[in-house]
Amino acid sequence: MPNFAYINNKFVDFKNAKIHVEDRGLQFADSVYEVIAVLNGNLIDLEFHLKRLQYSLKELDIKFKFKQSSLKKIFFNLLNKNKTTNGIIYLQITRGVQYREHKYENKLIPTLIIYSRNKNFNLPGKDFKGVNTITHEDLRWKRRDIKTVNLLPNIIAANKAKKARAYEAILLQNGKVTEGTSSNIWIIKNNNLITHPANTDILRGVTRTSILKIIKKTSLKLVEKSFTHKQLLNADEVFLTSSGSFITPILKIDKKKINNGKIGNITLKLAQMYSKSCMHG
Ligand code: PDD
Repeated sequence: MPNFAYINNKFVDFKNAKIHVEDRGLQFADSVYEVIAVLNGNLIDLEFHLKRLQYSLKELDIKFKFKQSSLKKIFFNLLNKNKTTNGIIYLQITRGVQYREHKYENKLIPTLIIYSRNKNFNLPGKDFKGVNTITHEDLRWKRRDIKTVNLLPNIIAANKAKKARAYEAILLQNGKVTEGTSSNIWIIKNNNLITHPANTDILRGVTRTSILKIIKKTSLKLVEKSFTHKQLLNADEVFLTSSGSFITPILKIDKKKINNGKIGNITLKLAQMYSKSCMHG
């Protein structure tokens, strides 16, 4: 367990970190969040995370102003206090505390919650692993581009995956793949790298954004286009990306093995390139 959290303007003992019962984050999931990977003490893709945070706040009209440098200072302080070298920073901003009513008041003071947790990542090396997945209907709302804590449909699907001893559930909407419950999904077919376009149907993953930059250095052709369940199962290679999983190969989808159940060469190469860019900035 971490030792400290940062709630509003204070570092507090993690065990005693509390928010009000009428916090709108608790009552309505009226709240946005970010999960930032920490690797060897570095905050991975921090600028993309803060840009997306700003976007989520703006889309929901949550009036939380922040300076990048002040947040960064809090993050590093927390990492220090919690002795986190490898792990994640979790940040949540709720609209604030108000008597319970759906309509919100304009002058609420947003609640800021930040803490870190230690975690080991799946990085390309001798322990690099591929995972099994299932598919599941995408039951979510129509603004998946906003990173809110409104995650029940994701939780239902993720738990189905858990019951099937799978790592992730790949979400399907009208026969097409949107994304994973907490990751973006990519397929490789004949040297094309295909992923869903970053519109309101998916979250614009920060890892996704970084990989788009990396593949410019390869001979892969990027196709930002939605793909079908059938294309998914017939892909040469499949992988998922997220701040918690970096690039993780997918070896099985429901009963179908991908690439004979082995990590594909292109996935491995991309994972190596991405982890190198995380180490060296
Ligand atoms: N999830 N899609 C969804 C629905 C997600 O929740 C996430 C991240 C991603 C990948 O985004 P990024 O590369 O920025 O992490 C895609 C985080 C890690 C979580 O909820 O734990």
